[in-house]
Amino acid sequence: MNARPFDPTILPAGLRDLDLEPLAATFGTPLFVYDEQHLRARARDYVQQFGAGNVAYAGKAFLCGAMVRLVEDEGLHLDVATGGELSVALGAGFPPERLVFHGNNKSDDELTAARDAGVGRVVADSFDELDRLERIGCAGDVLVRVTPGVEAHTHEFIETGTDTSKFGFTVSTGAAHDAVARVVASPTLRFGGVHAHIGSQVFRLDSYAEAAAVVGRFADDCERATGAEIPLVNLGGGLGARYLASDPDPSVSEYAAALRTGIGDRRIMVEPGRSIAAVAGITVYRVGTVKPIPGGRTYVAVDGGMSDNPRPVLYGAGYEAYLPARCAADRSLHCSVAGKHCEQGDVIVPEAQLPADVAVGDLLVTPVTGAYGYSMASNYNKVPRPAVVFVRDGVARLVVRRETFADLARLDA
Ligand code: LLP
Repeated sequence: MNARPFDPTILPAGLRDLDLEPLAATFGTPLFVYDEQHLRARARDYVQQFGAGNVAYAGKAFLCGAMVRLVEDEGLHLDVATGGELSVALGAGFPPERLVFHGNNKSDDELTAARDAGVGRVVADSFDELDRLERIGCAGDVLVRVTPGVEAHTHEFIETGTDTSKFGFTVSTGAAHDAVARVVASPTLRFGGVHAHIGSQVFRLDSYAEAAAVVGRFADDCERATGAEIPLVNLGGGLGARYLASDPDPSVSEYAAALRTGIGDRRIMVEPGRSIAAVAGITVYRVGTVKPIPGGRTYVAVDGGMSDNPRPVLYGAGYEAYLPARCAADRSLHCSVAGKHCEQGDVIVPEAQLPADVAVGDLLVTPVTGAYGYSMASNYNKVPRPAVVFVRDGVARLVVRRETFADLARLDA
């Protein structure tokens, strides 16, 4: 087993030398800590490659009022996928014309809310939805989501561009052509282009190039068949993040180049979530128990678990773990970092390496938890969800307060 010290290069620069004990003392643990400058730098990388009007941050990765305002401030658009995300965005004052509304089963209420708010783009996902949009009306452009039939080579749960996906209209069956023709011919809907998202945590740039090529050819076909111009090709999100020191770290410019090979000169929009938010965030826990099992492994139990990070259980996702007080120490103890929930599967890092003197009371950090951590957090076992802070120039500000026990009872009728 590799006993090397923790590799701090997977941390965002603004959190590398930050003293976490004062933050833990002020805000408690578990605590999500984001490097605000890293979030902004990633947003700017995307803007530089694609242009501000062509980047929508995917709110599902991590959303709260402060994040909405940061996204607005950086000039990005915002992808929302439910009425709830829409309401958080509008509540934080996000300009509705810069919203992209997604979802494979948008309800009448959601489409009505989008219409009334003046949402700029709605991405239609089914013929049923096109019926609804024509009945309800749509203030913005309607894009047609297509499934290009391309494998993303990621976990099957987050692969969305194959022919068997529940999302969108399939290109290979002709459904996607029919959907475009219908929107173009609609007397009430305004056609805004096509959309494709092949999956999430994707490292294979060749999969992107392949998907872009299919969508590019599809756009050409549609233009020939309908005579209407395809004003925009939205290629979704999905670029992978470096969770482990051994993971690749593709740059936004390489990603942009891969998309360009297939799409050529057409206007491209993208919707990054993870690749803006993941590396920016870490989770700070407090160790409560160190339990060596005779003849077995050692469990290091922390004060959170699958309620603040379900990704290891859901996708077998891997994380690093380190003790910030002994960051440069050899990590010679092979152990499992477990949570506090009532099931054996509640393990955050099954095969962790930590310094051999890990002890009760230590802070323990899992890096790269900024995407799909807080946003997928739950109250399982009635554990209150953690607080979230943004750090800028070494100064932390609370952006989401910790839930209280009173919050846990607030929905009781
Ligand atoms: N656009 C669309 C239409 C999407 O469905 C998604 C993610 C994105 C953009 C952003 O993808 P990203 O850049 O963040 O990969 N809970 C899973 C990830 C689910 C992603 C769902 N859609 C996980 O924790 O890995």
